[in-house]
Formats: sequence, C-alpha cells, structure tokens
Amino acid sequence: MTRENWGSQLGFILAAAGSAVGLGAIWKFPYEVGKNGGGAYLLVFMFFVFTFGFALLLAEMFIGRTAQASATMAFRKLAGAWWPWVGRMSVLCLVLILGFYNVVGGWTIAYVAHAFFDSGLTTENNLTLTARFHALTSQPASALGYTAAFSMITAVVVVAGVQQGIERLCKVLMPLFFITLLVLIIWVLQLPGALEGARGFLSPDFSRLSAEGIISALGLAFFTLSVGCGMMISYGSYIHSEAPLVRSALWVVALASLACLLSGLLVIPAMFAFQVDPSAGPGLVFITMPALFAQMPGGQWIEILFFLLVFFAALTSSVSILEPVVSFLHDEFGFSRHRGTLVGGLFIYMLCIPTSLSFGVLSDWTVGGMAPFALAGYIVNDILLPAGGMGVALFVGWVVWPAMQKSLIKEGAGRWAPLLRPVIAIAAPALIVVLWLHAAFSP
Ligand code: PHE
Repeated sequence: MTRENWGSQLGFILAAAGSAVGLGAIWKFPYEVGKNGGGAYLLVFMFFVFTFGFALLLAEMFIGRTAQASATMAFRKLAGAWWPWVGRMSVLCLVLILGFYNVVGGWTIAYVAHAFFDSGLTTENNLTLTARFHALTSQPASALGYTAAFSMITAVVVVAGVQQGIERLCKVLMPLFFITLLVLIIWVLQLPGALEGARGFLSPDFSRLSAEGIISALGLAFFTLSVGCGMMISYGSYIHSEAPLVRSALWVVALASLACLLSGLLVIPAMFAFQVDPSAGPGLVFITMPALFAQMPGGQWIEILFFLLVFFAALTSSVSILEPVVSFLHDEFGFSRHRGTLVGGLFIYMLCIPTSLSFGVLSDWTVGGMAPFALAGYIVNDILLPAGGMGVALFVGWVVWPAMQKSLIKEGAGRWAPLLRPVIAIAAPALIVVLWLHAAFSP
C-alpha cells in the first residue's frame, strides 16, 4: 500500500470536513440538545468546539503530517515508549464508533428506499412515524440487512482508495448539502409553533444543564470534529509535509459547527411544530423530518433527497473511520488494503449485530441500564474520545511542542502559539480530568 497524498489543500479540507460533517451533526446533535436542555447545551458545545476541539484537531493534523503515518505508527516514530498505546486505544475507539455508526447509516438507506418505493407513507402523524421508525429498527432482518448494506458500501469505497473518490464526491456534495439544509430551514420556520422551538434552541437556560450534559457536549464536540480517535492523524498523514495546517483546521471547525447549528435549526423547530417528544432519542431526525416533508408539495422527492444527503454525509464519515483501521492493520500486521478492509470490516460488522438489535430483541439486554447501542455510544463519547484527546494533548503539549511551535511560526501563525500551548498542555487535560471526576462521583 503506497502512501497517497491529497490532490490539493482544498481537497484535504473537504475530505476532513466530509469526515467531520456527518451523523454527529445531523442525527446526534439535535437529540442531545433535546435531551440536555436546549440553548445552554449549544453554547457549551460551541465553546468546546472552538477552543479544545480546534486545538486538538490542529494537534492531530500536526502529528500525522510530521510522522507521515497513521496513529500507532506515528506515535512510535515520534516518541516511542508507551505512546503507541494511545494509537492502539484510538483504533479500538474507531472500531466501536463504526459499531454503531453503520447501524444509523443503515437507517438512512432504509429511509431512502422506503421513500422511493412507497409514496403512501407520507404522513405528519407523529405516532405513525414513531411506529414506522420502531418497526424498521426493531425487526432483526431489516436492522441487520440495512446495517450490512451500509457497511459494505463503506468497505467498497475504502478498498477503492478514498482520496480520489472522496475528494471528488465531497466537492459536489458539501455545497448541495448546505443549500438543502437552508431551504428546509426556511420552510420549517414558517410552520406554527416552529419559531418557539428555534427560540428555545438559541436562548440558553443554564439551570437545565447538568454535569452529564457538559461531559456529553465535550464528547460530542470531539465526535463531531472527528478528534480523539486518531482519525485526523491519518488524514493529516496524507498531507504534504510542508503544507500549512491552521487555515485547514479552522475551515473544518467552521463547517462542522455550521452543520450542527443548521441541523439544530431544522430539527428542533420541526420537533415543536409536530409535537414530537424532545427526548425521542436516536429516532428524532427520522420522525420529525418525514412529518415536515409530508406538508411540502413534492414531499416524497424532498424526503428522498434529504435522506440521500444524510446518507452521503454519513458515508464520507464512515469511510474516514474505517480507513485508519485498515491503515493500522497494514502498518502493524502487513495486511494489504483488500485484506485489511475485509478483516476489519467483518470484525466491525460482528460488533454491529448486538448494536443493531438493541432496538428490538436485545433491548432488555443492558449493562448499567444501557442496551449495546447506547453502551457503545457511551464508551466512545464519555470515555475513549476524551481519553484519546487527553493522550494527544499531553503528547503535543509536552513531548513534541517545540516542533509544533516551529511549524506554527513557519506558517505565519506564531502569535497563536502562546495561546495554544496552555490550552493543549494544561487546560484540556485538566478539563477532561475534572469532568470525569465529577461524572464518577456525582450521585
Ligand atoms: N465526525 C463524524 C460525525 O460527526 C464521526 C466521526 C467520528 C468520524 C470520529 C471520524 C472519526 O458524524
């Protein structure tokens, strides 16, 4: 497997943004906002994205670009000792992410297929829509089948080599995606009750924000930016070793947070207009959006377009999750791209079996009150991503900082350095420890 490079800086930005903008922004963000009390959550989330998220994104890109290798190998090349364990942990994290990501990706395929073949399904009755979501996710055959379909499409793209395909795909899809979101928002804000929802989303009420909410916002900020799991180390390793990083990182952060803001502005007002329960959880987008489409002329086609775009957004992310796993299998065990994708893909699909059955036959099969799907999300969001972020922060802040500083100066961003160092070296690790302690000891 020869080391590929991005075609251009724009190509890299779009691929990295393609990884960042995905189910985190469109599917997870709105229901976390719903669960954790609206505007205050949004503010805390944005704060994390633009401070710690940005700093760690830059740090990961720097590690990858400098080492020209994906996580485990990169740590070994740059420092050795026990640092490669941070890389191995990040592979575990990526595997677990795909263990539930593929399931939701499968739902997007199901919604496209259903909207396409069954125009009679358009309704704005939220009970019918909730029942439809539950039927789809709880029947083992459809849950496993759609998950398998999404997993296979992801694997096919990774086998083909992502750079050319993904770069080109993102260039077309990203603008289309943002335009569609804007059009839908304009539509939804005109529905009765919707403005009230938008106001709730945008006006913070800190009394509704708990410590768990803050930890979840940190985890989601990392998840949405794809940091904390070595993914940006991999994508960074395909950049030319002299290429500047700060502007790329800023673009990725800006596009990812814009996607979150827009999807919140779409889904939350719709939720108010159609009186869907804010704690509807993972089904939220899949229940509110079809209700909205049912009111629009040509709604069936808009529904197809919307879920197709969500599918593509998910695909440009899932590919970026599988790619570093394949690259790890290559670096550590000499697997070819084909073999790595097959082995990695099959292993991940095995993990998807319990997660995809969590909404049906395995819903009572819980650990700490969580079925496998929620458990995987919890381990990723609350434990592994912050832990990976901590590893990267300590590494860049204390081990390779002089090189990072030199690189910042070289690209004309030297004045950021005195600001970035304390964030990366001290504030990020301290914040992560404080949040964990609070979560562990709060009743
Ligand atoms: N950022 C992606 C999303 O929001 C998920 C992701 C996480 C992708 C980690 C790569 C690595 O959907």
